[in-house]
Amino acid sequence: MKPACRRLSPPLLALLLCALPLAGGAQERTNPLAGDAQAARSGEDLFGRNCQQCHNSRGKGGKGPQLIRGAWGPGGANSDAFMFQTIANGRPNTQMGGFGGSLSETEIWQIVTFLRAESQRAKAAERQRADDVPNW
Ligand code: HEC
Repeated sequence: MKPACRRLSPPLLALLLCALPLAGGAQERTNPLAGDAQAARSGEDLFGRNCQQCHNSRGKGGKGPQLIRGAWGPGGANSDAFMFQTIANGRPNTQMGGFGGSLSETEIWQIVTFLRAESQRAKAAERQRADDVPNW
């Protein structure tokens, strides 16, 4: 008895296998550009043009919430995939619109990469300030 998949033609099988990761949904996705300095620079530029008017320069918050501390900080509860989804789909009934139509997936990941790098910098700066306090 032949296994069922042997009856599938190779091109069809390839199509199925290639479609699987796409069907997986954004929830389990990881940032393909994580830690990439060049991507972070592109993300900074994109952030300046698309997000800064509400989230302030460098994600510090303003009309919109800050995006680099707490749950968004290093090791925080909010994953890269969650951030990607929020940017792509927006938040219904808030000023946060979806950017899935105007930014490519790569551009959204670049913005995520920038904000993650920014959160690391903010954390490091806080640690530096704490170290500067004389402990006597
Ligand atoms: C017109 C103003 C506006 C613009 C432009 C905007 N946002 Fe927002 N954003 C908001 C507001 C307001 C919220 C809070 C929505 C809510 O109440 O949940 C938000 C929420 C978010 C959140 C979720 C924050 C959280 O803690 O839940 C992320 C992530 C985010 N924005 C990223 C971005 C990025 C990245 C861009 C640019 C591509 C962008 N936003 C552009 C107003 C804006």
